[in-house]
Amino acid sequence: MTQSQLALNSALGQVWTPENIALEMAQKALSFKPDARKVLDPSCGPATFSRSLNKAGANGLELICYDVDERMAQLTAEINHALGLFGEVRMRDYLLDQSLSGVFDLVIMNPPYIRQEAIPQNKKDIYHQYLTKMLESDLDRRANLFALFLLKGLVDLAPGGVLCAIVYDAITQSGYGKRTLELMARHAELLSSWPVQAPFQEVLVDAQILLYRKREHALPRECQQPDRADDGFVALGQLLTIRRGTSLPLRKVFLASQTDPYYDRSEPFFVKQAKLSGLVINPDERAYLADTPQDPEVKRWLRERAGAHNVDPTKISVKSVKGPIAFNYYIRNAPRHLWNQENVAIADNFYVSTPIGGFPAEAAWLLLNSDSYLDSLVASSRNQGNGLLKLQLYEYKQARVPDWRRLSIRKIKSLSAVARDLIDNGAVHDSVRLEANRSAEVLFNA
Ligand SMILES: C[S@@+](CC[C@H](N)C(=O)[O-])C[C@H]1O[C@@H](n2cnc3c(N)ncnc32)[C@H](O)[C@@H]1O
Repeated sequence: MTQSQLALNSALGQVWTPENIALEMAQKALSFKPDARKVLDPSCGPATFSRSLNKAGANGLELICYDVDERMAQLTAEINHALGLFGEVRMRDYLLDQSLSGVFDLVIMNPPYIRQEAIPQNKKDIYHQYLTKMLESDLDRRANLFALFLLKGLVDLAPGGVLCAIVYDAITQSGYGKRTLELMARHAELLSSWPVQAPFQEVLVDAQILLYRKREHALPRECQQPDRADDGFVALGQLLTIRRGTSLPLRKVFLASQTDPYYDRSEPFFVKQAKLSGLVINPDERAYLADTPQDPEVKRWLRERAGAHNVDPTKISVKSVKGPIAFNYYIRNAPRHLWNQENVAIADNFYVSTPIGGFPAEAAWLLLNSDSYLDSLVASSRNQGNGLLKLQLYEYKQARVPDWRRLSIRKIKSLSAVARDLIDNGAVHDSVRLEANRSAEVLFNA
């Protein structure tokens, strides 16, 4: 039987994780636990994570899978066998198996979303009793079944083990969800989390992917905001991939002039922020860069030009740096983040960034122009005299800023719409800043 031949049983919370997302989860989880040996998928469905773990290159794993649906258990057993995965598929209720605590290096799951009213009372009592005992904390009786899967997944991890789960956005929107996250934080460190927009074919809900590492010892009960990872702030380098812009060995050689014989082979290049009227990048130069296809004649000409200026002619292949957001790290007046509308190459007086985890770049750009982010950057910079500040790359990466990964998809979407509007209308710096401050205030302080 194949996955597509299986009718979904919604009473069992059956929705399947798309292949690309399952693969991303497996890769990310393995990157935090490369030595994982004993792995658990407590709600395996049609072997989605068996396939993604295999594709992510995991080998030598012992994979234990659970599902209450006989068809899923059978299919997973067949697939695991075909993939050469060693382990076992158990056709029973994962939440009733009390023999697993502290056993696994890695737990990967898409748990069933089943409302608390639909959970039989006798089972619910057993689930709650066991988890309350193991986590030394009362659970919310209104918790959806998926929240109990998350908590039991943590119980069943060995200390230092990693849990990776995709869950409905209810985890950040509901009271029981928030209490579950608080309890998780006592027992595990949040390594990463990112939103995914409507990932499931079968239901139109947004989701979150959560990655935790189980603590050696649970934090005391009174610790609700235990560590820096949970104080709502995060290092900017955890939100953005950041690089210094394109470094030209000598501008005279690589910047193009209209009188050059091969001017039409140069490409747009951005150097000077002062020339802009708003915050949208408008290239002010052209340059000869490696990504422009160059015929041998142009290369020969560029080599000669380099040689004439004492630049090593073997170094004429300059790789451009591009990305949606740029920041000039010499701060003279008000610092600002620029929007790279046409994705042009950017010079190395800027840091060039792309948001991590699919966070929309325009929403990131807007938040980065609010005082809550910029004040932290200025505070991390050094005075160069005469009113000039400089922010080193590591200082930029380490600056602590509000963690936008905690925002709901609905809020991120409305932020993106505001940002798009400002970009399309070529808004000036003051208007962007005003709107950025207003948005940050509403999103983080409301
Ligand atoms: C949301 S689906 C996820 C399936 C698969 N892991 C994926 O991501 O594509 C959840 C699966 O959990 C199974 N399930 C429901 N209740 C369960 C329970 N108490 N114990 C184990 N599995 C259960 C369902 O049959 C379903 O196949």
